[in-house]
Amino acid sequence: MEETTMILVTGATGNVGGKVLALLRADGHKVRALTRDPGRAAFDGGADLEVVAADLGRPETLAPALDGVQKVFLMSLGANKATHDAHLVAAAREAGVEHIVQLSTLGVEMAEDAESNPLGHWHRVAEEALRDSGIAWTILRPNGFMSMNLGWAESIKAEGVARGPLADVPEAIVDPRDIAEVAVRALTGEGHRGQVYDLTGPQALTAREQLAVLGSLLGRDLRFETVPLSVQREMMLRHFSEETVNGVIRTLQEAIEHGSELHGRLSPDVRRVLGREPRSFAAWAHDHLHLYRP
Ligand SMILES: NC(=O)c1ccc[n+]([C@@H]2O[C@H](COP(=O)([O-])OP(=O)(O)OC[C@H]3O[C@@H](n4cnc5c(N)ncnc54)[C@H](OP(=O)(O)O)[C@@H]3O)[C@@H](O)[C@H]2O)c1
Repeated sequence: MEETTMILVTGATGNVGGKVLALLRADGHKVRALTRDPGRAAFDGGADLEVVAADLGRPETLAPALDGVQKVFLMSLGANKATHDAHLVAAAREAGVEHIVQLSTLGVEMAEDAESNPLGHWHRVAEEALRDSGIAWTILRPNGFMSMNLGWAESIKAEGVARGPLADVPEAIVDPRDIAEVAVRALTGEGHRGQVYDLTGPQALTAREQLAVLGSLLGRDLRFETVPLSVQREMMLRHFSEETVNGVIRTLQEAIEHGSELHGRLSPDVRRVLGREPRSFAAWAHDHLHLYRP
């Protein structure tokens, strides 16, 4: 890749975007981090990093963020996903961006209507905006993130209990570090344009089995308590908009009623791109164990 290529990273203060940013910087690429609030964002200093204030919900802020940019890592959240990605893609076209690597979600091809699978449908519309743009694209469709289990940390520390709506649905959850590594390969390597990658871990595990892995590493007996969807909904409403929460609850309901063949399936794509096996949940848990210790 040319030394002069500037890569814009959205979600740069977040989970996957933060890791994409760190990997690109470590490899010496020119990067610009997008955040709504540079004052709040805690980026390590260094002349290599440009920080830009912009908001995917405010299209007028995006032209300056994209000025001089050739490549973008694009992520956005929840019910705003389709609108926010469409804003970025439109501004990127204007700015002459060459290639966008978009974070989507597993199963988009099956999310035909917003009614039965709102979550998948938001991502599907977002993908369509990019594919129709004329800009080169790579689409990453991850399964559930291993890091979602950090939501159990407080109750595990305090009570030895994890709570969630899905106890026994196997999911080949993926390490966000693998997602970020694939994103960086797609942004900086050859042969990834026009590719869709399904990103999973190496093993399908139910929530109870994930908890057993954590319990064995911690040397503690941990218990799983199934939470009714109504309670889960109230908990989520403390953090997310009603539209986003309703969409997620609808998707969870589908998984409870019909299981999830899709989410239990193993994909070869992490191995295809990175040339190694995806990280296991045991490896993820080992590296994050301190967060679960009282
Ligand atoms: N979690 C899962 O299990 C899972 C599974 C499959 C797919 N996904 C998809 O992965 C994505 C979530 O990735 P993640 O966990 O890395 O997200 P995250 O850590 O929750 O990302 C938060 C980031 O979003 C940025 N952001 C929020 N609103 C913004 C706005 N209006 N304009 C610009 N930036 C904004 C924040 O930036 P500032 O606050 O700095 O502005 C922050 O950097 C979602 O699209 C989700 O559907 C998740």
